Amino acid sequence: MDGSDEVLEDAVLDLSGESAGEKGLDSSSPFFVSKKAAAVLKHEILKQYVVPFASKVGRYAPDGRVVYLDGYAGPGRYEDGTPGSPALILDEAARIGGFRQLDCYFIEKQRKSYSSLAKLVEEAQQKGISAHALRGKVEKHLGQVLERAQGAPLFAFLDPFGLGVSYDSLTNQIFGSRGWATGRHATEILLNFNANAVRRIGGYLNSSKDIPGKEATLEAMDAACGGSWWRDEFRASADNVEAVRRITNEFSKRVGQAVGASSWRIAVRNRAHHQVAYYLLYFTRHRDGAWLFGDAVSLAQVEWRRACLPPPEEDALFSAVDTFDEEEKQREQEWVATIRRNIQGLQQKLGAFTVDAHLPQIMSGVLGEARQKHIRAAVKELYKEGKTGCNGVGDLRKLRITAV
Ligand SMILES: C[S@@+](CC[C@H](N)C(=O)[O-])C[C@H]1O[C@@H](n2cnc3c(N)ncnc32)[C@H](O)[C@@H]1O
Repeated sequence: MDGSDEVLEDAVLDLSGESAGEKGLDSSSPFFVSKKAAAVLKHEILKQYVVPFASKVGRYAPDGRVVYLDGYAGPGRYEDGTPGSPALILDEAARIGGFRQLDCYFIEKQRKSYSSLAKLVEEAQQKGISAHALRGKVEKHLGQVLERAQGAPLFAFLDPFGLGVSYDSLTNQIFGSRGWATGRHATEILLNFNANAVRRIGGYLNSSKDIPGKEATLEAMDAACGGSWWRDEFRASADNVEAVRRITNEFSKRVGQAVGASSWRIAVRNRAHHQVAYYLLYFTRHRDGAWLFGDAVSLAQVEWRRACLPPPEEDALFSAVDTFDEEEKQREQEWVATIRRNIQGLQQKLGAFTVDAHLPQIMSGVLGEARQKHIRAAVKELYKEGKTGCNGVGDLRKLRITAV
């Protein structure tokens, strides 16, 4: 299946892999004082995705147990009380406790952060949630968590500040320890691929300065990327923006091909005009995951745009908050119009086609923004205007869009 491979897009869905297989801050760091917009997007994606994932794959798991691993957990909450990834996942675990057991493992190496995390986990345990706080490096605990995850679906969130687990751990240890099958062996990873680390470490390549630890850092990047190929990509790029995109793109392709997964690549910024802070890379071996994740990203982007609104000025008659909903509606109409054009283009090219087989093409230009409901709206509009015989009702992915 062809994947959309627009290297320059902010959101990329690459389905080509799915056929292939048959240094830390502490909790007193400003990072954990209050949440920035980039973290809003990251957390909303997690929040929007983990429950649908657990609900779906937990059906095949003994006792509905789904393992969730947060390998770089942090303190659990920001100082102002806002949930970090552990607190928000523990809330979600409680919410679905009646029908799924989200068995949560949180790993944190920094002492102070670990101590806050452990308290949060203890409170959750007292409420009957299956949660475990593990102190130390993710590399130390990964093996035992993977053992606990044998026979159950696994979702791993890997969110380091800089370089994360090695490429080998990601492909061989995590994916390699799991069966090829989906269902109760489902394995999905959401990974923070840090753009700042790529810019900083790549900068060493062009520097003749004698920087302490330079060689070791370059080698650590080789281990994270699964080889020194990224050095050539960096050198061949016109600037840092291109370098980060090329390296992220190639990395996610390599992982996808190695483990037989399709992937999403989502650029995360603190403001629309800022440089990319990191890419969230999502890997799944199941087409359902790719669809569900797309919807989660779309919903999370709404919250990111809300978080980017300027604070209302005192005494101002109108604020951006007042027009937000109206602008969102306008945006949605534009997405539907884009999707309509894409569908009509496909009708011209292919005659009839099923939605599931052409997701990246149908969503071209609005990937990571629009979601399934916008595809359905576009099909229904075309049907009403007599431009397809497909009425847009029923399982969206199975819809066969005919030309007239
Ligand atoms: C970006 S923060 C995590 C934020 C958290 N996931 C959230 O969304 O609220 C990264 C955390 O990873 C921890 N850390 C760094 N290297 C680690 C390692 N090798 N193993 C485990 N934790 C690590 C840091 O101390 C820091 O608390």
